[in-house]
Amino acid sequence: MAQVVLENIYKSFPPRKGEDVASAVPSSDVQENRTDKINILRRINLTVADGEFMVLVGPSGCGKSTLLRLIAGLEPMTGGNIWVGSRLVNRLPPKERDIAMVFQNYALYPHMSVYDNIAFGLRRRGSGDMQSGSFSHMAEDLLVGMTKKLPKGLRYLSDKEKSVDERVNSVAQLLQIDRLLHRLPKQLSGGQRQRVALGRAIARNPQVFLMDEPLSNLDAKLRTETRAQIVKLQRQLGTTTLYVTHDQTEAMTMGDRIAILNGGQLQQVDPPLELYNRPANRFVAEFIGSPPMNFIPVEFHAPLLITNNDFRLTLPEYWGSALQKYDGRKILLGIRPEHLILSVPANKNLPLKVELVENLGNDTYLAAKLTDVNFQNTAVNQTLQVRIPPDKLVRLGEQLWFSLTPEKIHFFDPDTELAIFPKTSPSLPFEK
Ligand SMILES: Nc1ncnc2c1ncn2[C@@H]1O[C@H](COP(=O)(O)OP(=O)(O)OP(=O)(O)O)[C@@H](O)[C@H]1O
Ligand SMILES: [Mg+2]
Repeated sequence: MAQVVLENIYKSFPPRKGEDVASAVPSSDVQENRTDKINILRRINLTVADGEFMVLVGPSGCGKSTLLRLIAGLEPMTGGNIWVGSRLVNRLPPKERDIAMVFQNYALYPHMSVYDNIAFGLRRRGSGDMQSGSFSHMAEDLLVGMTKKLPKGLRYLSDKEKSVDERVNSVAQLLQIDRLLHRLPKQLSGGQRQRVALGRAIARNPQVFLMDEPLSNLDAKLRTETRAQIVKLQRQLGTTTLYVTHDQTEAMTMGDRIAILNGGQLQQVDPPLELYNRPANRFVAEFIGSPPMNFIPVEFHAPLLITNNDFRLTLPEYWGSALQKYDGRKILLGIRPEHLILSVPANKNLPLKVELVENLGNDTYLAAKLTDVNFQNTAVNQTLQVRIPPDKLVRLGEQLWFSLTPEKIHFFDPDTELAIFPKTSPSLPFEK
């Protein structure tokens, strides 16, 4: 097994017909971009530790598949270095990188049985020996081919075929597809096909797995099951894994760490709960967590007061020094739906008018309007998401008051949208 190190990776594509470079990338990057190409990945630095399960997550089109294809060697890089263990693999062809990739649109060979699909990579790996052309290898292959259709006991198995056979059977058992080995892909369900595609990658026993949304075609139940199976398998095999998804539940439940990508740039790389509790910027705060974090524009008044048209709240003391420079200015307050608590009318509480009630059984979510927030001299009618206990009955149009759990409040700079962290704090979420 091996660690994977990505150093300053860049990738650009030539602009497609009719596409305007300036509109495709932020203006600061157009200057960097001397050859009129579209930068898809910029300054990617990432180390996936030996045996780690790293999840790469981000919205559609942010460059996740492109990054995996670069690591696998299926696409040339524009700049940067890729290390697998102590080997610099930049110039190595895919099959010499010792990496197995499960594709977003996994394709099985339709005319081959499950067995042959799984065995395919293993047999191909051995083909280098055969090119050396030894007569005995050719004769063996002929015998294997001629006896292939005979019942199992009568088939000729070369040493290579015997080891392929062992490997296919053990992987099939691991993935619980050992009863399906003789079937063709079209005779399988989506979930079974998915497991065959995984089996094909696992059978090769590579140093690194790259998985590109391997569960995207499965229904919710199968997805949850297969998710757990992949995590268990990865723990058993200890193979360094980079797993792409745009599903944040998958990211939170599967990864040792999560790397968040947006617009071709890494936003934050941290363990799941660290991302949830200490998002580095507004994008991460909004992306991780469902429903997403609410953002409320407020004015800060030193030493510890925040106000807007609807409420006035004195913050815990540990915010004092971090917020000092925003005295008299607007800042963005972030609060998650579960940290707004149904309360009583009070200055320090938020008055919200219920617009939508979504009862999920175990939880109820409200979309509720915060009236007349005044931000940079414009009134905004802002809708917030709130979680309430499922046994609480609420009516549409009802006005309710919510308190903010003080130690769960986040702040973001209104211009850079970077998180503002207090220097010290007595409790989570800010404790390291
Ligand atoms: N061969 C190519 N030529 C030009 N542009 C490309 C090429 N391949 C990908 N792109 C562009 O690069 C960007 C990133 O694509 P990529 O497939 O990596 O996104 P993704 O994060 O995997 O998205 P999704 O979640 O939808 O799979 C997209 O804007 C895409 O249109
Ligand atoms: Mg993709």
